[in-house]
Amino acid sequence: MRIITILTALFVTFSLASLAQEKKAPEKLVFQTKMGNVTYDHAKHLERAKGDCKVCHDKLWAQDAKAPLNFKAGMHKVAEKGKTSCATCHVAGGTAFVSTGNCAKCHVKGAK
Ligand code: HEC
Ligand code: HEC
Ligand code: HEC
Repeated sequence: MRIITILTALFVTFSLASLAQEKKAPEKLVFQTKMGNVTYDHAKHLERAKGDCKVCHDKLWAQDAKAPLNFKAGMHKVAEKGKTSCATCHVAGGTAFVSTGNCAKCHVKGAK
């Protein structure tokens, strides 16, 4: 009896885990900030990551637009120093533009 309960629990756990894997990737996400909202083109980022969700999930972020990005501390300097969050790539020597001097590439006043 007990073994069946355990097996059922395992089955439910794995089903939920695979459901999480099958979440549909969003096209765009908009992050609200006081500096002007940031439109994150999830589709373009996914394409550049060659369709590999694991480049970002769940290593950098959960698949949840309400989860913290952990990018803003110290005007992005903390993430840049640790090469974490968006600054895994958006960092000097990384694959994408750095924050310094490029605020407006991400922060757009009036963006919804
Ligand atoms: C280059 C990085 C990157 C890649 C690759 C990536 N994502 Fe994301 N994804 C993000 C970011 C950033 C968020 C927002 C996370 C947050 O707000 O904490 C996100 C959020 C999500 C969300 C939540 C959307 C919502 O409205 O809550 C889903 C679902 C998701 N991604 C699915 C996927 C799937 C499926 C793949 C692979 C096919 C994928 N992602 C690949 C960066 C990426
Ligand atoms: C896996 C690497 C990677 C991560 C992580 C990443 N980016 Fe990018 N991002 C890129 C690359 C590569 C480009 C295109 C090259 C360039 O413009 O310098 C880009 C371009 C952009 C652009 C210009 C529009 C576009 O998509 O072409 C914005 C805005 C942007 N990123 C915001 C963000 C934000 C905000 C985060 C964190 C939530 C983030 N990126 C995380 C690699 C990344
Ligand atoms: C690669 C895209 C990108 C660039 C470039 C960028 N930011 Fe950001 N910024 C973001 C994102 C995304 C957030 C939200 C981060 C979070 O919630 O952790 C944010 C948040 C912030 C916040 C916090 C605002 C609030 O409402 O709490 C400040 C301040 C900020 N950025 C300033 C700047 C300045 C100044 C620059 C230029 C030197 C800059 N950012 C460049 C993407 C960017």
